[in-house]
Amino acid sequence: MAISLNESETGDKGEVFRDVRMLFEVLNNLHDAVRSDDPEHDVGGVIELLKRYVVEHFAREERFMADSNYPDYAAHAREHRRIAEIVQAIGFAHETAPDALDFDKILDFLSEWLMGHILGTDRKYIPYVKGEAGDQDNGTGSVNPKSLRKARTVQYTLPAHKADMLEICARALESGDERARELEQVLRELAAHYPTDRIAAVAKDFLKEGAELPALD
Ligand SMILES: [Fe+2]
Repeated sequence: MAISLNESETGDKGEVFRDVRMLFEVLNNLHDAVRSDDPEHDVGGVIELLKRYVVEHFAREERFMADSNYPDYAAHAREHRRIAEIVQAIGFAHETAPDALDFDKILDFLSEWLMGHILGTDRKYIPYVKGEAGDQDNGTGSVNPKSLRKARTVQYTLPAHKADMLEICARALESGDERARELEQVLRELAAHYPTDRIAAVAKDFLKEGAELPALD
């Protein structure tokens, strides 16, 4: 069953294509491993690799989509979650009851899903990433706050005493205005110089009306 893909079929020549090629390679390795009697062919190891590449590839794609304000981000990400859960389930089933798995069906399902997703769903966001579609800039030099809200949900666990700081920064950044861009720049520079608690303190000062930008060592 070797499956393959031309670069032109993905509509992309960069990281996404390299990811997809790697996923196909892993699937072909899985095919070889389940067909082989050679104990060197480690089916469990290939499934682990598949689980890892699926997660990494989806995360990269979702970052591209969020950064380009792709309007169908949520539905696309749901497809990713579904296949990631299935791959996790295959891994679990292989660990607990390997003989119960029908790898013919599993490989058919995974290769069909991958081809369908890459040649269908994935192709729809490429024009947005390339800047050929979508409203990435409202023409005023600032980012549309609504599209920002839609673009990214970040979940962090942090000490309660820092939660107010994070909320203040998030609200400031969400506004997308000049102050937000300055804050983003300051935070990026600080991240290279200070531990996170120091960054929070400096950002808090910066957000006070009229505060001066901090001097970097
Ligand atoms: Fe995708």
